[in-house]
Amino acid sequence: MKFKEIELEQVAGFKSQWPSEDLVELAFVGRSNVGKSSFINSFLGRKNLAKTSSKPGKTRTINFYRINNNFRLVDLPGYGYAKVSKKEKAKWDKLINEYLYERDNLREVFLLVDIRHEPTAQDKQMYDWIIESGFTGFVIATKFDKIKKGQIQKHINQIKKKLNIEDEGLIFAYSSETKHNKDVLEEQVDVIINY
Ligand code: GTP
Ligand code: MG
Repeated sequence: MKFKEIELEQVAGFKSQWPSEDLVELAFVGRSNVGKSSFINSFLGRKNLAKTSSKPGKTRTINFYRINNNFRLVDLPGYGYAKVSKKEKAKWDKLINEYLYERDNLREVFLLVDIRHEPTAQDKQMYDWIIESGFTGFVIATKFDKIKKGQIQKHINQIKKKLNIEDEGLIFAYSSETKHNKDVLEEQVDVIINY
């Protein structure tokens, strides 16, 4: 699939700012700093489209990227960032949950986890919700370039075990640096939006 037209269609801090539900949407969720925004940039082949940071808590709004006038990729704030106030945390959680629960054109939710670390209780909670809500349960294990080749299976097993995943085919190791598995994910996205 060629990403010909890519547009940051909307930056939404409130529900009233969401675009209309006319296009299929794929959302990317996960802890702060796992690489959601970096994934969107590398997947779309645009370096600085989504703003990223080495510090957690960069994305604070829901950002809708409109692709080929055909579908949207949706970048959400992260959860689980310890160093923000309770009030701020509650605000982000509300943004995320409101979108996930209320968006009728949401076709698929991808959970992103850092391949190096065991998924957290919050990741498990999110993954359970994804499955219970009828989504497939795709996991993107980011920062693949940061582990040694010999350690891959160990890390994949850790993710499988913690999230209670039987089908390893649901887990895609990914690197925003090398774009490892970009082709496979592109095919997957193609299937999802044409379903
Ligand atoms: P929030 O917006 O805070 O929720 O974070 P995020 O999940 O959007 O993470 P972001 O894309 O901002 O990336 C966080 C940091 O991880 C940045 O310093 C990125 O450069 C780095 N990063 C993301 N993906 C990769 C990857 O695949 N490999 C490497 N080496 N670094 C990555
Ligand atoms: Mg982000």
